[in-house]
Amino acid sequence: MPILEVQRLSKSYRQLGGETTVAIENISCQIESGEFVSFVGPSGCGKTTLLMSIAGLTVPSTGKIIVNGREVSGPPPNLVLVFQEFNKSLFAWRSVLGNVRFGLEARRSRSRDAEIKARSLIDLVGLKGFENHYPWELSGGMQQRVAIARALAYEPEVLLMDEPFGSLDALTRLELEDTLLRLWAELRTTILFITHDIEEAIYLSDRIWVLSRRPSRIVEELRIDFPRPRDQVTTRAEGRFMELRNHIYQGISNHGPL
Ligand SMILES: Nc1ncnc2c1ncn2[C@@H]1O[C@H](COP(=O)(O)OP(=O)(O)O)[C@@H](O)[C@H]1O
Ligand SMILES: [Mg+2]
Repeated sequence: MPILEVQRLSKSYRQLGGETTVAIENISCQIESGEFVSFVGPSGCGKTTLLMSIAGLTVPSTGKIIVNGREVSGPPPNLVLVFQEFNKSLFAWRSVLGNVRFGLEARRSRSRDAEIKARSLIDLVGLKGFENHYPWELSGGMQQRVAIARALAYEPEVLLMDEPFGSLDALTRLELEDTLLRLWAELRTTILFITHDIEEAIYLSDRIWVLSRRPSRIVEELRIDFPRPRDQVTTRAEGRFMELRNHIYQGISNHGPL
């Protein structure tokens, strides 16, 4: 049984003048437990809308979300979302440790257990030594590491990530991609990742769904079988990597101008 199933999901927004914007149309997919999957599509195509619908934060116009065989009608407790804007999602008045502990407090962990767990997650995302720092004392990449550690503290079955590295510089982004793959290999959490960056999707994923421009539909599903662990230099230099990138780019372009 898939851990997460999206069935014929569509979402339209009614604008003030009465016009409707169709963001996503008839999206269906199935995600197996432990997979790393991505949706890739151009900006404005409806990626955030899709993720918000899956997270139960916006009501779809038609279609269903099924988690562990059950249709969901509100935010499912076993799904956690990481946003692009980590600077807005972290608690400015809490230290790194306090931010990560928040996820554990929500799960009502005993305070000593929470402390130990939070420290081990901070270590796991590479922030050992920064436990008592505040978000504003950290670089963007470090802040996003805190946001990921906090999300993992909830022990989600599925981690939903909306362009989480979109506002980081290119080198930090590559580092965070590798950190995320390492965490995923260690924790075996299912990850649903959203990005407009074709190469990022290929580098990270087991499977990719390519989205067209708005109204967004699935253009294609691709299985990505580069061996793991992947490497920023050698994996990206493979001929097959370039082929996939060009193929996806053409797939998106053929379904409307970029
Ligand atoms: N709350 C909203 N109300 C009206 N229109 C919206 C709303 N959210 C998104 N949209 C529109 O839906 C389309 C898809 O947006 P979004 O899901 O944010 O795309 P992406 O994340 O791929 O950039 C855009 O045209 C956007 O303007
Ligand atoms: Mg978005």
